[in-house]
Amino acid sequence: MNFEKISILGLGYIGLPTASMFAYHGVQVYGMDVNPKVLEALNQGRLHIHEPGLLEFVHNVINNGKLVVNDFVCPSDAFIIAVPTPFYGEKLADLSYVKNAAEAIVPHLKKGNLVVLESTSPPLTTQNILVPILEKSGLKAGEDFLLAYSPERVLPGQILRELVENARVIGGINSESAQAGKDLYKIFVKGEIITTTAATAEMVKIMENTYRDVNIAIANEFSRLSERFGVDVWEAIKIANLHPRVNILNPGPGVGGHCISVDPWFFVESAPDLTKLILAARQVNDSQPDFVVNQVEKILGNLQNKKIAVLGLAYKPDVDDLRESPAIDIVTKLSKLGAFVTAFEPFKLDFDLKYGQMAQNLGDAIKETDLILVLVAHSEFKNIDLVKLKNLSNTNVIYDAVNIWDKPKLEDLGFQIFKLGVSEL
Ligand SMILES: NC(=O)c1ccc[n+]([C@@H]2O[C@H](COP(=O)([O-])OP(=O)(O)OC[C@H]3O[C@@H](n4cnc5c(N)ncnc54)[C@H](O)[C@@H]3O)[C@@H](O)[C@H]2O)c1
Repeated sequence: MNFEKISILGLGYIGLPTASMFAYHGVQVYGMDVNPKVLEALNQGRLHIHEPGLLEFVHNVINNGKLVVNDFVCPSDAFIIAVPTPFYGEKLADLSYVKNAAEAIVPHLKKGNLVVLESTSPPLTTQNILVPILEKSGLKAGEDFLLAYSPERVLPGQILRELVENARVIGGINSESAQAGKDLYKIFVKGEIITTTAATAEMVKIMENTYRDVNIAIANEFSRLSERFGVDVWEAIKIANLHPRVNILNPGPGVGGHCISVDPWFFVESAPDLTKLILAARQVNDSQPDFVVNQVEKILGNLQNKKIAVLGLAYKPDVDDLRESPAIDIVTKLSKLGAFVTAFEPFKLDFDLKYGQMAQNLGDAIKETDLILVLVAHSEFKNIDLVKLKNLSNTNVIYDAVNIWDKPKLEDLGFQIFKLGVSEL
């Protein structure tokens, strides 16, 4: 199949790099987003998200006219849906964005078109949700138009490279749809492209993230067990991972982001009778912020009027993504217990923190505080000169939830350092 014009609905972390990549490879791309701020930023030559290398890339294709952004859908050979799939209420999948995007395609759908859903979605979404909406066009799915599901598995911070190099799975509602999806993505994908059914591709994506979630949960439990038994979990994991068939992940203050903390709920919602382990893992990871807050209380006692400097709010190191971040949860909980929290997030200085205040630099965050609480292992924090850290702050108490700094070194400098998974308090 040939693709001269492609529409991408949703210009976020996934849609914008994907749109730019197709445009860079010579396809005429129409990017569509419902958020006026996204379009305004792009039209002014700015980006609403942080991703290394993306700004120049987007500039290039907007300037040469290969990427055009709009708030409406344009007729195209293929339509890609890359809108959010968050959860709502009791951790239920919110498919309203996917449904709205599909509805917006209906008036433009023509015979021979291909529609691809990229948004992470519960099993059978393509067949049970998208087919009925798209068939409102009067066209038959799999015959008049083709329909596939292709999940995105890129790593934020490495999106432009991984989009091209990663293996990509494309599941069709029939084999013609899967093949058309393969024809589309081979425009830029250099990794292996595997075709399968839409339901398999949906499962693959959620299985990957659930696998990671369960493994982080076990690392978090190991950290609690290590504290109980007077063991340093970081050392124990390092040694255990020397075993050729063991790869334990790192414990931490919880699991966040748009994927790992969300996707396992899609399984729990779809099949509650079959997901006891997955649910337990989610509960362990979701309780980790409370665990950290409890540790801080044990160090500082009553938190009323205590000052706490939080380093890092992102859900993982070196990204500006704060969605579902456990660090925000921890800040909220500390503030509600009466603490004054000052947070420093180098990737999002202007973040509108509901509870607590934002510092514009490290010095301002830690200069007057009762405790430095490290929640994200940003490189900027990792590489800090510890003597400088000592000079910048009035406190000598640190709680490190991500094993970022060397304990003996800090102790030599006169710090009292507590680490997640090391010290039973
Ligand atoms: N961010 C990641 O690292 C990542 C990785 C793998 C998969 N995913 C999945 O990809 C999907 C998109 O995630 P994201 O991180 O790009 O989200 P995002 O929030 O960064 O971007 C989504 C964009 O879609 C727009 N949008 C919402 N409704 C729309 C509609 N009806 N029509 C057009 N645009 C609409 C929003 O305004 C937003 O700009 C999600 O399902 C997510 O789970 C994300």
